[in-house]
Amino acid sequence: MSNLQILSKFTVGGQELQNRVVLAPLTRARCTPTEDPLDTVSRTPNDLMATYYEQRASAGLIITEATAVSEEGYGWLNSPELRTEAQMEAWKKIVDKVHAKGSKIYVQFWNMGRQAHSSFHVESQRVVSASDIPMADSFKVKSSTFEDVPPETPVPLTVDEIQSVVADFVHGAKLARQAGFDGIEIHSANGYLIDQFLQSKTNKRADQYGGSMENRFRFLKEIVQGIVDSGAYPSNRIGFRISPNGVFGDMGSEDNAQMFTFVAAEMSKLKVAYLHLMDGLGFGYHGLCPAVTAADIRKVFDGPIICNVGLTKEIAEGMIRSGAADLACFGRLYISNPDLVERFANDWPLEPEAAYQHWWQHVGAKGYTDWPTYKPSEEDSDDAQNDE
Ligand SMILES: Cc1cc2nc3c(=O)[nH]c(=O)nc-3n(C[C@H](O)[C@H](O)[C@H](O)COP(=O)(O)O)c2cc1C
Repeated sequence: MSNLQILSKFTVGGQELQNRVVLAPLTRARCTPTEDPLDTVSRTPNDLMATYYEQRASAGLIITEATAVSEEGYGWLNSPELRTEAQMEAWKKIVDKVHAKGSKIYVQFWNMGRQAHSSFHVESQRVVSASDIPMADSFKVKSSTFEDVPPETPVPLTVDEIQSVVADFVHGAKLARQAGFDGIEIHSANGYLIDQFLQSKTNKRADQYGGSMENRFRFLKEIVQGIVDSGAYPSNRIGFRISPNGVFGDMGSEDNAQMFTFVAAEMSKLKVAYLHLMDGLGFGYHGLCPAVTAADIRKVFDGPIICNVGLTKEIAEGMIRSGAADLACFGRLYISNPDLVERFANDWPLEPEAAYQHWWQHVGAKGYTDWPTYKPSEEDSDDAQNDE
């Protein structure tokens, strides 16, 4: 029996997780394609996705791929939504399969803000953000036909529109509850809408949603509060993800260390399920202020901390043993190793982490559900016996 700490049980939101390994939220764009990319049918989970999640359900916690809850929050072809009863029913099948394998599953709620393209937004024909600041032209966004196109200048949300986006999150949370999700992860990372409100680089508002740290945090706070007040989930079933160090989505602000320490402290007061920190620098580091580490967050946040980016079994084990983090989240390794937990437990070799061409370029099962589980050879069992 392995004595790895990452394989020990851990409690989140009053629920016991079978281990501390977390499947990262990974957009894999496998919702049923239809001929019309704007057809919401292509935003509904399917059986192939259920197989993908079931294959990885030896994880202690599964966080789903980013899932849109607003019309204007959507912007990635064949990614899922949770806005309708039909989508709720489709997600329920996935939740049930994951639960049958003993894992827990949180749905990640996504609003892309300025990283979306208006070709997705049939009604409004615009993209939105905190302020009218576009990403630099060197960054590209994906159109509704999956072409790389220049980013557009976003329209700042009015206060009424902000309230409507909050209401969309609440509506999504009610559907998530009906689908049986154990909780929700609010995607506040990677330069999407909530991050655009949090960071000084993209938030130049002069109203109650801009300026001070408290004001920039207000949008995220209202989302959490709205979900709690609706009765959909208590705060200890709402986690959130931040990327204070990252450049993804043309992000990075000089006051990020200060701002995200503030956010962590405020979310601690709300007694949320966990803080999911992209602390590793392997996805790019803006270098404008000191990188925020899990140890920094631990000083101000009382709940569970999930660490992520570039983790190996050894690094993750070290993070947990040192007390810096409680849970370890794996992305690319989980794409290519559906049985990651079993491989860790038995010291079996890993497939190398999935390369870019396997992320979302394929359709259907290829590169998605066709990664093999490890088949121990007789030699492996001899080794195991010798170890006993
Ligand atoms: C194909 C792919 C899709 C991703 N989709 C999401 C997503 O939907 N939501 C999110 O928060 N992060 C997303 N990420 C970031 C991952 O969750 C994770 O932070 C990143 O892969 C770093 O972890 P790793 O080094 O273990 O791969 C994605 C990353 C990849 C490679």
